Amino acid sequence: MEREHIRNFVIIAHIDHGKSTLADRLLESTHTIEERRMKAQYLDQLELERERGITIKMAPVTMRFVSENGKEYALNLIDTPGHSDFSYEVSRALEAVEGAVLLVDVTQGIQAQTLANFYAAKKTGLAVIGALNKVDLIEHTNPLVIAEMRKELAALIGCEEKDILEVSGKTGKNVSLLLERIVKFIPSPKKYDAGMLRARALVFDSFYDNHKGVVASIRVCGGTFNAFDDVYLIGTETRAKIKELGVFVPEMKPRNTLSDGEIGYLATGIKDIEKIKIGDTVCVFDGAQVSKHAISEYALLGYEEPKPVIFVSFYPEEASEYDALRQSLQKLKLNDSALSVEPDQNEVLGRGFKIGCLGRLHFEITAERLRREFEIGVINTFPSVRYLVKTRDREMITIVKPEELPQEYLEIQEPMIALDIIFPRTYLSSILSLQKKFRFSNMHTETIGERIKLSAHMPLVELVSDFDDCMKSVSEGYASFSYELKEYAPADIARVDLLVSGKQIPGLSRFLPNESLEREARRMVEKLRDLLPRQQYTQPIQASAYGRIVARADIPAIRKELGIFGKNGGDRTRKMKLWKKQKRGKERLKDRSEATISPAVFKELLKKE
Ligand code: GTP
Repeated sequence: MEREHIRNFVIIAHIDHGKSTLADRLLESTHTIEERRMKAQYLDQLELERERGITIKMAPVTMRFVSENGKEYALNLIDTPGHSDFSYEVSRALEAVEGAVLLVDVTQGIQAQTLANFYAAKKTGLAVIGALNKVDLIEHTNPLVIAEMRKELAALIGCEEKDILEVSGKTGKNVSLLLERIVKFIPSPKKYDAGMLRARALVFDSFYDNHKGVVASIRVCGGTFNAFDDVYLIGTETRAKIKELGVFVPEMKPRNTLSDGEIGYLATGIKDIEKIKIGDTVCVFDGAQVSKHAISEYALLGYEEPKPVIFVSFYPEEASEYDALRQSLQKLKLNDSALSVEPDQNEVLGRGFKIGCLGRLHFEITAERLRREFEIGVINTFPSVRYLVKTRDREMITIVKPEELPQEYLEIQEPMIALDIIFPRTYLSSILSLQKKFRFSNMHTETIGERIKLSAHMPLVELVSDFDDCMKSVSEGYASFSYELKEYAPADIARVDLLVSGKQIPGLSRFLPNESLEREARRMVEKLRDLLPRQQYTQPIQASAYGRIVARADIPAIRKELGIFGKNGGDRTRKMKLWKKQKRGKERLKDRSEATISPAVFKELLKKE
């Protein structure tokens, strides 16, 4: 396809505003997917994505479209995730395209991620087409709201109101018009000069295929790649031969060439994901005598590697599942370059892994995928962040677990985020009530139409407690947030350990703000008291900080047996299997003294109330 007839774009939106559903309509309308193969959220390939209705991985697809001007176009769409945890996926997709469709659910209006994505698209220099989605829900009952939203979105984008499209991913309203707009308003890819190279491309994503090895999603930036070319990855200095070149339709479809401006994939049979890094430049050059240094001049501006910011240790519920857990994490990592995995050890829970994630949703999804795709139950510690500690010798050390804090130190610093919360003005006082609990600082507000945007700094660690749930509950679901990592700041916090029957429980230590230390410690021991099963004897639960006990609650001795199956149903063989597994687990834990702390207990303890 000639460059002039290519359009590369993303759909960006706040979570649940309907990107994937609209993408379905585009696939249908361009006959990319035959009707009988169509299923909802076609581009969400992971089972978990489809079930939870969220996009986790970006998904590129090439569509053919014949415009009313009679010309045929190749439209390359990249569907992106909506949640802040995955904003690095969005930023990568933005670099590979020239335009964006900014979608706003007309019943929800502009939300935090709408703004964050819009500003990111603008910064990348993309052409932005504004569209109001889900108009089928209110077009007959509330046309005034649509008019109001149209005004707000036009003001945000800086376009005329008539340029905002009203679409419906459900009924397909105006989908053809949107395709025409894409062709008209989004520029074709610029001609790139690959210089002394014959071709080069940006690796904007990668995934692992059991047969093809690591598959790199690429955007060609100059020249033409041919199937079976010898390629070179500039960043990792790796040579390889293309085994398959192609485009996503959305399945992989081999092609003989990929030219300047096109989006597709290449597979070389390389199995080591470290060799094909996202953000690297892959190129082809003629002649063997070209110096590495000379080639590196042609490297495209890559991406910063995603840095895990939240750390949590996973231990198998059964020690015998350690190897299975290791293998499963390796497999997950093949398709999730942002996940970091390191071996870890805990006195009570045994061998496990320290996992680094991008945020709380990323961590929850990882645990969920282990359970579903690999059928491995894990016990996890408190999610933590990376703290900087100034020792007495004025040396800066990094710690993740409170247990790693030296006895004596001068200062602890913690990572901060810049948070934007958007909500209808009636919820202002409710949102402000979160200030103390979540340690907001540097607050200021701004008005956006009928809504308020509150910007504040907040310690990152607050995100992994239940900030999200609390914000939703005080705003009855009407507030949304997005965040960006900021630098470190001194933290007024202390390490608190939990003891059951006088023994410290490894993995249950945590940092708490000094200001609310005793209150929080008391809440933790009381909560643990209520969550832990009773024994034949009284068990004291204590919290200690600065070498003294700061809170205590006792679990009285047992009086009657509790049921084992809980409230949930399920067939009997499954229950028996589960019961046997639980029994083995309990025996194992009993052997290891008092540590009968289940993942559910950990999870409950995390909540703030
Ligand atoms: P993330 O990928 O998680 O960010 O979500 P998304 O933006 O891809 O949203 P998705 O397409 O999953 O849609 C969210 C919900 O809105 C689903 O229940 C859809 O069925 C529904 N929905 C999407 N578009 C429309 C629409 O035009 N009209 C109506 N009535 N419902 C819609």
